[in-house]
Amino acid sequence: MESKKVTILDLRARKREGIPITMLTAYDYPSALVVDRAGIDVILVGDSLAMVVLGHETTLPVSMEEMLHHCRAVRRGARRALLVGDMPFLSYQADVGQAVTNAGRFLKEAGMDAVKLEGGREMAETIRAILDAGIPVMGHLGLTPQSIHKLGGYKVQGKDAAAAKRLMEDARILEEAGCFSIVLEAIPAPVAERITRSLSIPTIGIGAGPGCDGQVLVLHDLLGMFERFTPRFVKKYANLFQEMTRAIEAYRGEVLNRSFPGPEHTFKISEEELAALEEL
Ligand code: KIV
Repeated sequence: MESKKVTILDLRARKREGIPITMLTAYDYPSALVVDRAGIDVILVGDSLAMVVLGHETTLPVSMEEMLHHCRAVRRGARRALLVGDMPFLSYQADVGQAVTNAGRFLKEAGMDAVKLEGGREMAETIRAILDAGIPVMGHLGLTPQSIHKLGGYKVQGKDAAAAKRLMEDARILEEAGCFSIVLEAIPAPVAERITRSLSIPTIGIGAGPGCDGQVLVLHDLLGMFERFTPRFVKKYANLFQEMTRAIEAYRGEVLNRSFPGPEHTFKISEEELAALEEL
């Protein structure tokens, strides 16, 4: 695996060359280490951590401080991947100046290389301002989980021609505003493919079919570590929840029947020291 750090320019080259971009989420040091060593191009410290790591019902409650805390841990584990910090709900929607300051914190305080934020045309001014501060921005269109209450649930977006046209326009506007890439979430495959063809920046799909320039999944979904629900677009490559349960139950059983710790896990002292100890 080539160890040169991935840049936003590499991603654009990958689109030109037709080589798919791989992206996954990670939220801490060990997951970043594994994902990075496996050769994944982009690590997203997603606000999905609110659900899969912190146990919230939606992504809305996670704070800037919590995001930065997890980003720092990921930074310590990753060497090669491009690192993208996900801007949490209300860290960029209310005020452009605050959005720039918060985006800057991901780079300055947590070692991220770029930020991601959700939304279409309404975010263009904010994206331009963040870029003017020298911070690369990844867009996110389609099912945008921070707008879950407005969307009325986790539903596929862009299903009728008018909605699909609006998504295509939004993608164009995000490209013109300067995004280096756009995540397309839960969009019919033909719509995502059209958007992808119409842009010079790469699209990264999640539930958007094979026609995108790259794919992303939530790490805990891919590994089978998130039990609450599994979206249709997820492929589980492992069932770590089951495997972890098996290991922990085995440990519990061995502690109860005193077969753990065994001699190989136990420190000894010399016979002389033991005898001296007896005399004390
Ligand atoms: O927060 C996240 O994990 C994301 C991905 C689903 C793209 O935004």
